[in-house]
Amino acid sequence: MTVVGPFGLSVRDQALEADVQTGLAAVEAGLLDATKSDVPFITEAAQHLVRAGGKRFRPLLVMLASQFGDPYAPGVVPAAVVVELTHLATLYHDDVMDEADVRRGVPSANARWDNSVAVLTGDFLFARASHILSDLGPEAVRVQAEAFERLVTGQILETVGPRDGRDPVDHYLDVIGGKTGSLIAVSGRFGAMTSGADESVVDILTQYGERLGVAFQLADDVLDIASDSHESGKTPGTDLREGIPTLPVLLLRAQAEAHGRPEDLELVAMLDGDLADDARLAEALEGLRAHPALEQARRDTVRYAEEARATLTPLPEGYAKSALVELCDAVVHRAG
Ligand code: IPE
Ligand code: IPE
Ligand code: MG
Ligand code: MG
Repeated sequence: MTVVGPFGLSVRDQALEADVQTGLAAVEAGLLDATKSDVPFITEAAQHLVRAGGKRFRPLLVMLASQFGDPYAPGVVPAAVVVELTHLATLYHDDVMDEADVRRGVPSANARWDNSVAVLTGDFLFARASHILSDLGPEAVRVQAEAFERLVTGQILETVGPRDGRDPVDHYLDVIGGKTGSLIAVSGRFGAMTSGADESVVDILTQYGERLGVAFQLADDVLDIASDSHESGKTPGTDLREGIPTLPVLLLRAQAEAHGRPEDLELVAMLDGDLADDARLAEALEGLRAHPALEQARRDTVRYAEEARATLTPLPEGYAKSALVELCDAVVHRAG
């Protein structure tokens, strides 16, 4: 048994392990190649977060999904490069929106340079992703365009908040399906599509990616509260500070409203107050870490990961399917 990729995924088959390792290495080379510009500053800015690392979760999913067809088909690696470049571009933009100063354990592009550099570098990465995508054919372009529309819609819906009368948790689930589920669904889909897997397999892996993506974002939102920056490579409490509603906070608010317990109301008031001050943010984080809403959010994360796993049932048994099953657990375990 060997451990590959992010989350220490164990792979019990040498051939699968070799395919994934070789594929991910080719993706690294593809990312460095795709981020080179004739303008040295653009190369520096675009490679800033590529070189900082990241889990390469989406390329890993492309590689695993490609096992259901021909994993050596010529479109597999470029498809993985496209999803990672698209993801990367959204991180440059997201850190501007969220005023985040740390990403992948290094200063975010907006912190290291400024918002304009971060936005334009994100655009540059989208352009490069589109260029590679064009070689994969019109169907791939359409799939990516639709997913990207959903991603941006998710980010916008997060910014504008729920319309009057809409349940905040339902709104939140729409947001994370859009901003995160969409591209992780494309990763499963592209892996299956570019390897020439059957249409039914393409559909299953798309559905799997969507659900896994929602679980992944739920886990990430728990981690914003529960982890330290050493683990996540980001500043904990960024969502709280920016007033971005995440499931633990929405559950706390619902409980405070339903039962009116003074300690819950106090914590809600603290979250609604100014968290620019580090000590106040630390206090709010401490309150949430001790609150049952965080546990409930963890349980919901597990439920979504189980739904993702259930979609895999019709797939043929084998090492690739086992790895996809394991990925569900691995995503949840990040959230403790
Ligand atoms: C961060 O994604 C944004 C979310 C969708 C939660 P990742 O957690 O995949 O970030 P990297 O690529 O490993 O840095
Ligand atoms: C993740 O955004 C989704 C995208 C980048 C499209 P978040 O704001 O939730 O993720 P982090 O916590 O900054 O990685
Ligand atoms: Mg964000
Ligand atoms: Mg963010």
